[in-house]
Amino acid sequence: MAGLETNRIGQNVIAYDEVVSTQPLAHEAAAKGAVEGTIVLAELQTGGKGRLGRPWHSAKGTGIWMSLIIRPAIPLPKTPQMTLLTAVAVATTIREETGLPVKIKWPNDIFIGDKKVCGILTELNAESDRVNYLVIGIGLNANSVESDFPSELAQIATSLRIESGEPLKRVSFIQRLCRIFEEEYDHYLQAGFERVKQEWEDHSYTIGKWVSLQTISQQFEGRAVGLDEEGVLKVEDQAGQIHKVYSADVNYRAN
Ligand code: BTN
Repeated sequence: MAGLETNRIGQNVIAYDEVVSTQPLAHEAAAKGAVEGTIVLAELQTGGKGRLGRPWHSAKGTGIWMSLIIRPAIPLPKTPQMTLLTAVAVATTIREETGLPVKIKWPNDIFIGDKKVCGILTELNAESDRVNYLVIGIGLNANSVESDFPSELAQIATSLRIESGEPLKRVSFIQRLCRIFEEEYDHYLQAGFERVKQEWEDHSYTIGKWVSLQTISQQFEGRAVGLDEEGVLKVEDQAGQIHKVYSADVNYRAN
């Protein structure tokens, strides 16, 4: 990609017109030894995958549908930090490219106002306790107009074009995202999670809100108060007790 200012992120690009999903193609490339920073891109996904087995609507030419391969030498329990880092990198790129006031909704959705503009799906390949690679799927609604969304998404999804009134230059966006991701990632590998944690909290949609949580083991309500040093969400219940939430479905209340 001419104009790319990175050492490895985005230096190898595998681009398709139409795929079922970029995720399995990135796994295939990674298993065959694709270098760290390889990105798999598609104009159209016919079977885009979201979190929790949900479909991801990926109409032709309207978005950035990409999967990034990274090979961080970190312990397995730290891999969720890579999703938080990616959310920070995407949010920073959107702010720099468009000036739009984006927020990060735990764990990894990017919101403008109360509508989702981008989702992140991280998939891990590991052997015993060693990370082989991560495939980080990024689905960004870039140039969709309202009529591109199916009716069930119209009230909850938006695009950068809808919000800014301007079409997004996707190549320049991807180049900036690669540069910002690489800078965050290199800093993380050298200095640890603290900066990502701070940036995530500074741009969080979730911190300070009352949330109702359904985890595997319990259901409770409380105020989201921050991330711990590992990146786990801390929620304070009515009795002042702090709960650490690794994975849950979150509902938000108005107060
Ligand atoms: C979510 O919010 O549920 C995550 C959505 C992730 C979508 C991206 S689009 C590129 C990559 N390929 C997929 O099939 N999914 C991810």
